Amino acid sequence: MKTLIIANWKMNPPTFREAKKLLEASKKAADKSPKATLVVAPPSIYFRDLRAKYRGKKLFFAVQSAHYDDGGAFTGEISMMQAKDAGASHVIIGHSERRAMGESNDDTTKKVAKALSFHMTPIFCVGETHRSAHGEHFTFVKDQLRAGFKDVPSAKVSRVVVAYEPVWAIGASAAMNPRDMHEMAIFIRKTIVEMHGSAGHNIKILYGGSIDDSNIKIMLDLGGVSGLIVGRASSVPAKITSLLQAIQK
Ligand code: PGA
Repeated sequence: MKTLIIANWKMNPPTFREAKKLLEASKKAADKSPKATLVVAPPSIYFRDLRAKYRGKKLFFAVQSAHYDDGGAFTGEISMMQAKDAGASHVIIGHSERRAMGESNDDTTKKVAKALSFHMTPIFCVGETHRSAHGEHFTFVKDQLRAGFKDVPSAKVSRVVVAYEPVWAIGASAAMNPRDMHEMAIFIRKTIVEMHGSAGHNIKILYGGSIDDSNIKIMLDLGGVSGLIVGRASSVPAKITSLLQAIQK
């Protein structure tokens, strides 16, 4: 099974010129990485132009967020339909930075279902803001999972990708301990199986938070994950190149 890498560029790079360079570097790196599937998630203002430039079949494109409504008075938003029309195959839903701006569990219910109805792959993000010794983070993540999967038909469950991103490890100086990730991956799978039965066994689980070329391999080896969602190490040409190289070793 290939490693799934979601390159979440966030609000980077600063100009379209640099975005083209980053796409070019990402494409080259992906071409040299038979073990990985790369999904790039550029800012929506660059999306259609970048997507149109790419003629190969190896890279996939995600939008960083999309609204569940098909149109209307939602200043600043883009719809799933617009994303699909521009060539998106994946959509990031419930990223903690979007949750901090107001995206709720109820919104994720609608968005995951909507993305599936457009045959796009939801990259559904969950993760607690902090941890304590009492283990409340499991309840917190369970509530997020229950919301995201609420309106997913059992036949489509395995098409949802769950990205576990503990907020305290995003943009931080170190990633989570891979063994703790493994524990969380088991918990996530168990929760989906409780809701949807055996289809939950096939779900892909990703980790996100401070992944770079130095820790990607150990997370893949010990974290019980099928891939990663990567912010900083995906939005600079040299970094995405060395990140993908690190997987090939
Ligand atoms: P980071 O971001 O890799 O810069 O920590 C990850 C994310 O938010 O998806």
